[in-house]
Amino acid sequence: MKTINIAIDGPAGAGKSTIAKMVSARLGYIYVDTGALYRTVALYITENNIADEDIEKSLADADVSLRFVDGAQRVFLGDRDVSELIRTPAISMAASRTSAIPAVRAYLFETQQKIARENNIIMDGRDIGTVVLPNADVKIFLTASAEERANRRYKELAEKPDCPPYEEILKDIIQRDYQDMHREIAPLRQAEDAVLVDTTKLSLEESAEAIIRVIESKTG
Ligand code: DC
Repeated sequence: MKTINIAIDGPAGAGKSTIAKMVSARLGYIYVDTGALYRTVALYITENNIADEDIEKSLADADVSLRFVDGAQRVFLGDRDVSELIRTPAISMAASRTSAIPAVRAYLFETQQKIARENNIIMDGRDIGTVVLPNADVKIFLTASAEERANRRYKELAEKPDCPPYEEILKDIIQRDYQDMHREIAPLRQAEDAVLVDTTKLSLEESAEAIIRVIESKTG
C-alpha cells in the first residue's frame, strides 16, 4: 500500500518539530524528527573523540536507531536512549558541522527512506523535500525571521539553569543557518515544489492550521 509522505524543511528554530508533532497527532501520522538522528551521530562522534578522517569507518559501529515509545520518537545509540542528551547547544553546533560530512548523510539516508516507505509520516529536516523524499506527496518549507527564532529559543531555554544570553542564541542561529545553507552536500533550500509557510507572525496553533490547509489541499 502506498504511504503518504509529508516533508517539512526549514532552518533551526522555525518551529518545525513542535508544529509537525501537532499536525501529525491530528492526522494520525508518525512524526519523524531527522535532526535527532544527526544529533545522535554528533553525540557519538563527540563522546568517542573521533577525528573527521576516521568518521566514515567508525560509523559502521555507531548503531544509531529510531524507536517509537507510546507513539513518540526516541533515538538510541546502541541500547542507550539519548533523546535528552542530544538537546544541548554544543550538540546542536556539532550536528550542524558533522551533518556536512557526506559519509554521515549517506549513513542516515536509508534509515529515513525506510520509515517513509513503511508508514504515513510527517518528516522534518533540512533536505527531506529535496533529497530524502523527492517524491513526497506534500512539501512545506517552514521559516521565520532569525530574530523571532532566537526569541522563541530564548523563551524555551529561559527555564533552564544555564540559559545563554539572547545575543548568543541569535548568533548561533545565524551561524547554523549559514552552515546549513552553504554546505556542499544537501544544503538547506526550499524545493521548487514546496509551499512556503512563514511563521514569524503566527502562533503555533495558526502555523499548524496553515500546514493542515496545505496538506488537505494537496492530498484531497
Ligand atoms: O533540526 P535540528 O536543529 O535538530 O538539526 C540539527 C542539525 O542537523 C542541523 O543544524 C542540520 C542537521 N540536519 C541536517 O543536516 N539534515 C536534516 N535532515 C536534519 C538536520
